Amino acid sequence: MILANKEKVNILSIETSCDETALSFVTASGGLKKPTFVVHGDVVASQIKLHQPFGGVVPALAKRAHIEHLPLLFKEIVDGGMRPEELDFITVTVGPGLEPALWTGIEFAKQLAEQYNKPLIGTNHLEGHLYSILVSKEKPDPKKIFPAIALIVSGGHTLLLQMDDLTHFKKIGETVDDAVGEAFDKVARMIDLPYPGGPEIERLAKEGNPMAINFPRPMVGHKNYNFSFSGLKTSVLYYLRDSAKAKKDIVKADIAASFQRAVSDVLIKKTLRAVEEFDAKSIMISGGVSANRTLRAEFAASIEKRFPIKKDRPELLVSEFSTDNALMIAASGYMDYLRGKEYKIEADGNLNL
Ligand code: KG4
Ligand code: ZN
Repeated sequence: MILANKEKVNILSIETSCDETALSFVTASGGLKKPTFVVHGDVVASQIKLHQPFGGVVPALAKRAHIEHLPLLFKEIVDGGMRPEELDFITVTVGPGLEPALWTGIEFAKQLAEQYNKPLIGTNHLEGHLYSILVSKEKPDPKKIFPAIALIVSGGHTLLLQMDDLTHFKKIGETVDDAVGEAFDKVARMIDLPYPGGPEIERLAKEGNPMAINFPRPMVGHKNYNFSFSGLKTSVLYYLRDSAKAKKDIVKADIAASFQRAVSDVLIKKTLRAVEEFDAKSIMISGGVSANRTLRAEFAASIEKRFPIKKDRPELLVSEFSTDNALMIAASGYMDYLRGKEYKIEADGNLNL
């Protein structure tokens, strides 16, 4: 176990769980009371162009691209001023994600740890998303934001958490089928938009009418906090099929806008219900889908409507680092270091929170 006995630590973080190769170099301080990060280097090599012709991530190609990118990004970080000798530890994502991709980061991290004789801390990608709030420019004050409700919406996960503080949290809901990002990507494909579909749907939705088509809001009335997006995706498919049969013109922008509205309605309703039940002082939203500006704006507007009196209103904290990156991994690695939490240094594609 690595003892958390230093006021300031220099961290190199590595992320390769899906289709972004990312490294960051930060100095962390402040401990659990006020975790603070000074960013010295933050680089991401995206593989979007590589996977786009296939309409999704191809694991074997992702693996090869990570292997190519890792040494180049490491050199970029070193050229930017990192002296590996001054690192306190290296942290790497061990899961969840694509195992062949995860292994590339783990092997690279192991080599560096050995070469420079540094401790290696395995960390959880989902905690990375959760803690990405901490590396944002507008730093939340841990004394004021708990209890909190956290919503993680990514390509692989949809999770609702109740948090007592930074390190004590409980999962209260999750998707029973597709993740939100996955639904965005699949619906995008149905209307011939390229991968990744989320940003494309958001762009097209701006030209459409969100009230044009009344897509279902799955499980919105259920008492629990689980989500389901597979049925919503299927109703888009049926809508397209029925329109084609009836020789009705389809307006893709209306489909995009109406689908996006259905998703945000469900996410917002469930999250705000949890806020009320748990008397939360803040709502933290992270993961790739939280990059969606329309979703953020609808969250903000719904919070204002539901809590008209400002002093009762939970604070909305949206990560600036929504899509996969290595800063969030530095943040979760630091939290693991402070807590003495140790993950096995091996890829676990299904690692949970
Ligand atoms: O967190 P992330 O980068 O990777 C995972 O951990 O999965 O999330 C990727 C997902 C993809 O499904 C992508 O379509 C979605 O996030 N996404 C968006 C937007 N930007 C990325 N979804 C909706 N609106 C966006 N602007
Ligand atoms: Zn992610």
